[in-house]
Amino acid sequence: MPYVIDDRETPRFRVARSTMVDAAILEEERRNIFDKSWLFVGHESEIDNPHDFRTRNVGGRPIIFTRNADREVRVFVNSCPHRGMQIETRGEGHGRFLKCFYHGWSFNTSGDLVAIPGEDSYGENFDRHNLCLVRPAKVESYRGFVFLSWTNDIADLQTYLAGATDILDLFADQSELGMQIIGGSHLYSVQANWKLLSENSADGYHALTTHHRYLVMLKESGKDLSKVFAAGPAPFMGYDLGNGHAVIGGADGTGGGNSGLGRDLSGDGLLQQMKRRDRFAELYGADWANRMFSGRNLVIFPNLAVIDLIMGITLRTYYPVAPGYMEVSAWSLQPKDDDPELRRMRQENFLTFWGPAGLATPDDVEALQRCQRGFAAHDVAPWNDISRGMASERKIFTDELQMRVFWREWDRRMTGTEHAPETPQLGKRGRVGWPGQLSSTP
Ligand code: FES
Ligand SMILES: [Fe+2]
Repeated sequence: MPYVIDDRETPRFRVARSTMVDAAILEEERRNIFDKSWLFVGHESEIDNPHDFRTRNVGGRPIIFTRNADREVRVFVNSCPHRGMQIETRGEGHGRFLKCFYHGWSFNTSGDLVAIPGEDSYGENFDRHNLCLVRPAKVESYRGFVFLSWTNDIADLQTYLAGATDILDLFADQSELGMQIIGGSHLYSVQANWKLLSENSADGYHALTTHHRYLVMLKESGKDLSKVFAAGPAPFMGYDLGNGHAVIGGADGTGGGNSGLGRDLSGDGLLQQMKRRDRFAELYGADWANRMFSGRNLVIFPNLAVIDLIMGITLRTYYPVAPGYMEVSAWSLQPKDDDPELRRMRQENFLTFWGPAGLATPDDVEALQRCQRGFAAHDVAPWNDISRGMASERKIFTDELQMRVFWREWDRRMTGTEHAPETPQLGKRGRVGWPGQLSSTP
């Protein structure tokens, strides 16, 4: 039985639910997807100073993300070259040396083995250079976003990111001093298949129903939601960015009270937001500034989502532990030079909207877990339908183009089936407007 049926005639797009429950498929995914993709490690601002470090799992392997004395970003496997112990157990910290607690070997932040108790017992041919910390095959960064690859056999990061580089520019351009991850991360788990979060992270269709409770709260706080959901000349649309990456985003940042889906800003907060947009219009042109202030949900294949709802930006990665269980990490990305009220808004929304105990994420988690429970019947009810918008030429944010883009790449990696793109793929275009979308500026 195929995993994906991509029927262009009818048209209809179906995905086999077995892909969500089968342990053998997960093993194939580890080999064909996670071991052959650029995976997000972290943002350079998390390790601002030499010898700052963070630890996390990337593609199922524990890593240390650090900066050496020469300020170079370094990523190491967090496993001692002696007998394997995980060297650093803290999530974050600072130190010139990484010391293994088992037998006391010490490494510097360039990964060199610098001290070893009782070295003379190894004989005169002993060479410390053979026992450096192990590195992933490749580490590259794009505008502060650091990725690794566990294989050498891969295109460079920018080629891999394809049109997603423009979307990352829309995030990175939001501060002249640079963007930064603020204060720690959210770590939570979901009893659902990891691919459901790639789907959900750019799913405009579910917002009104799944997040009804949040929208009622906003309305009661005095927010005029008609502006946010206005189907004006430039609503959110969906785009295929190439290589399995996709985005839903808008071009007109003039609506929504400049707090997007967050509570309305005070007069002063609004003024600060307008000033920022004017400044960016001066730097990059009005079209690009309007896009920056219009928001977007980006999914970089396979498992990085970057979501900007103006009220804040969140990054998340998610990894499978079992077919029906994933672990999620989420961070808040903000301009270094933010106005205090805008920063408060972003922090508040990171907690109260995106947080694992906030007003949106628990509803998403519940939705995904219930899908997973439904998949228990996959033998008698084998197919998901992801056809929405397939018949229309322009894909809007409540369509499912972005999910089909993900699944076509997934199927190509897993079975070798080549699926022609449904719409023209956007390669890197630079600071220009969305194609096919009316600009808000004359
Ligand atoms: S395992 Fe690290 S020093 Fe022995
Ligand atoms: Fe959601």
